[in-house]
Amino acid sequence: MMACVSERVQNKYFSDALNLFAETQWLYNTPVTDLLAKGLLDFLPTDWLNVLQILEIQELNNMVVKKTTKPQWPETLKAFVKKCKNLNRLPLINTVLSTTLPKNFQIGLNDKKQHEIMHLAHLVHKQCAPHDINVIIDFGAGLGYVCQLLYHLYGYKVLGLEKNQANVNKARDRQVKMYPDSLEYVKYNCCDLTCDSVEIIETILRTEFQENSDVCLIGLHACGDLSIHASKIFLNMKAAQIFIMISCCYHKLSISKSIQINASTEKQYFNNFPLSNCLKSVILNTDFDIGLFLRQPFLRLACQEPADRWNNMSAETHNQHSFYVLARAVLQLYATENGFFLKKCTRKGTRKSQCLNFETYVKDSLNRYILQSLKDEKIEVQNIQSDLDIHEKNIIELWKNHYNKLKVVEIYTALQLMLQSAAESLILQDWLCWMHERGLDATIIPVMNKQLSPRSYAIVSWKR
Ligand SMILES: C[S@@+](CC[C@H](N)C(=O)[O-])C[C@H]1O[C@@H](n2cnc3c(N)ncnc32)[C@H](O)[C@@H]1O
Repeated sequence: MMACVSERVQNKYFSDALNLFAETQWLYNTPVTDLLAKGLLDFLPTDWLNVLQILEIQELNNMVVKKTTKPQWPETLKAFVKKCKNLNRLPLINTVLSTTLPKNFQIGLNDKKQHEIMHLAHLVHKQCAPHDINVIIDFGAGLGYVCQLLYHLYGYKVLGLEKNQANVNKARDRQVKMYPDSLEYVKYNCCDLTCDSVEIIETILRTEFQENSDVCLIGLHACGDLSIHASKIFLNMKAAQIFIMISCCYHKLSISKSIQINASTEKQYFNNFPLSNCLKSVILNTDFDIGLFLRQPFLRLACQEPADRWNNMSAETHNQHSFYVLARAVLQLYATENGFFLKKCTRKGTRKSQCLNFETYVKDSLNRYILQSLKDEKIEVQNIQSDLDIHEKNIIELWKNHYNKLKVVEIYTALQLMLQSAAESLILQDWLCWMHERGLDATIIPVMNKQLSPRSYAIVSWKR
């Protein structure tokens, strides 16, 4: 059995990562909407604030993106930045591929999706061609974008498996209308995949393509547990020789156990994280209860946009961002202090136009949220105009007490963002280590441009 890269190095990496996330819970373990209600800004060390508040915008951007520090900064801050840098084990992205898709593949797809399917198809071909693999199985195929492209560009037979029947129907409709020449070679089946799906997949494969040749398993943004199910299928399916999986939505990983510890917090444990024996044993050797800090907020942090988003970010964009975060936090504080919770009336909580000034923001928000009493959750609250006027006046008063925190909010966000790649690293390294522990040769390959497509890494594995 192939050991993790080097057991000692891997143990140290997991142990350092655990320590970092245990120490920095105040930055990510509570939703940012509760920034004021839970007093999260009070956790910012004063000596950090003193040096960060006087930074120029570009210096703040550089700390976040390039992890640059200044010699005169407090040692604890320099150590934090260094840990964020060192615990990022994601390889550098180096995509130079042109993303121009054939005309009939551009229809209905935004630039992000076009970029993703082009780059994934390219990687799949690069891996499969030298091994003479001609059949691909796409896990969570959605509307079949990458399936169709793999056939069109390289002539692969592709089986798209998808649990949502409506998606399967749409994929088939698109195929009939847009790519009729592929009907014999690209097939879509409805299938709710679990780690026990090997037999059913083999049966579908035989039925659709009447052959038993070797296959490559792929997934583009196979969310939550699906990526892990796919890894277990790869391990147990004889014909599966290559595995190329790009995960996303880590926070959708299924919870195995949750324990309420107070009105607003619960401990959470997951079925598929941690996965590797290596990380599990490192955890056992510490006093950490990971149910307290490697919870959904941590998984959300891991699937946030990466720090690169702050590359050369303008002062105007920073101002808009901090306004939005602080304004929402004031709304939340008002609700919490007065025994309400904010119930969304429409799908989107805020509009861009709200960012013009706080008065507009509050008016808009009170149209979009209902302040529902925490005591009488079941009683439907009507937005009576006289009540709304009082709330509006009170919230504007509250804003006056807090609007001087805009800069501090941006610093808080900067520090949180710096943890993103270390968090995603920990999840992917754990997954990779699980594969190594099972004798699989596996690595992380950067596939896409992070700024265009934040979940841009593939776990790639070969059996021969
Ligand atoms: C984020 S979407 C990606 C769709 C497609 N791969 C793409 O990139 O356009 C994830 C897809 O996986 C499907 N899915 C999730 N869990 C699944 C499972 N257990 N079995 C099969 N499909 C699943 C969802 O229905 C959804 O269509």
